[in-house]
Amino acid sequence: MAKPIIQLEHLTYQVNGRTILDDITFDIAEQEIFSVLGLSGTGKTTLLRLITGLIRPTSGSLRVFGQDITVMSEDEMNVLRDRMGLVFQYGALFDSLSVRENVGFRLYERTNTPEDEVRAIVADKLRQVGLPNTEELYPAELSGGMQKRVGIARVLVGDPDLLLYDEPTSGLDPVIAGAIDELITRLRDELGVTSVVVSHDVHSVLRMSDRIALLYQGKVQYLGTPQQFHDADDPVVRQFLTGSSDGPIHVV
Ligand SMILES: Nc1ncnc2c1ncn2[C@@H]1O[C@H](COP(=O)(O)OP(=O)(O)OP(=O)(O)O)[C@@H](O)[C@H]1O
Ligand SMILES: [Mg+2]
Repeated sequence: MAKPIIQLEHLTYQVNGRTILDDITFDIAEQEIFSVLGLSGTGKTTLLRLITGLIRPTSGSLRVFGQDITVMSEDEMNVLRDRMGLVFQYGALFDSLSVRENVGFRLYERTNTPEDEVRAIVADKLRQVGLPNTEELYPAELSGGMQKRVGIARVLVGDPDLLLYDEPTSGLDPVIAGAIDELITRLRDELGVTSVVVSHDVHSVLRMSDRIALLYQGKVQYLGTPQQFHDADDPVVRQFLTGSSDGPIHVV
């Protein structure tokens, strides 16, 4: 297997005495598209917050780019965070800023990059996500799918080695969702990034992932390739794939 970029070992996360993630162990390899599937509230966003060091595990270890982030200072974490791009579950664009200002946000805020250079970088990233010449539009003028792309372009400005997507296709119709799946795959191919996708969109995940982990009741219920998921006998996997109300998953 290629070099591991993320390594979780016996990782447990508890909040208010509740165990959200319970003794989780797996590796994510360089340039892999690794997806985490799970019901709403199973801790998928929590996992991304752990990887980006926004919260710390209760126990176990978590290595990112080979470094144990559980023992890092905030300054050390910031250096590592610069290599990651988190695409938020809800676009998280600033409504009062144009697409150019949203995508160029970190350059405007954190660097003295000259305006013409910012514009060139923004134009380049917008082209990369398939939205050329949209700089002067405002978020309210964009469809949901376009907003997701702008959110991705904004993250690409940091030239990340690791892209983390939180529900990239939620709220999108199947055709637009398919286009986002293709974009995620293309960015991996063109940029050589490692991608972690958390989602409950089974269809998307089966189509684009190299490997998938299904979280259930705080544990990794099943981990494998899309083909292995298709063929799995595990009743939780079967119920998840078919969306049936009949099975071990109780819907309250
Ligand atoms: N800071 C917090 N304080 C209390 N509970 C929290 C906190 N963060 C997360 N949780 C709880 O942890 C569980 C997992 O939340 P998380 O947002 O990770 O789920 P999710 O899998 O991303 O769900 P969804 O698919 O709806 O986005 C939820 O039950 C949530 O209420
Ligand atoms: Mg979530």
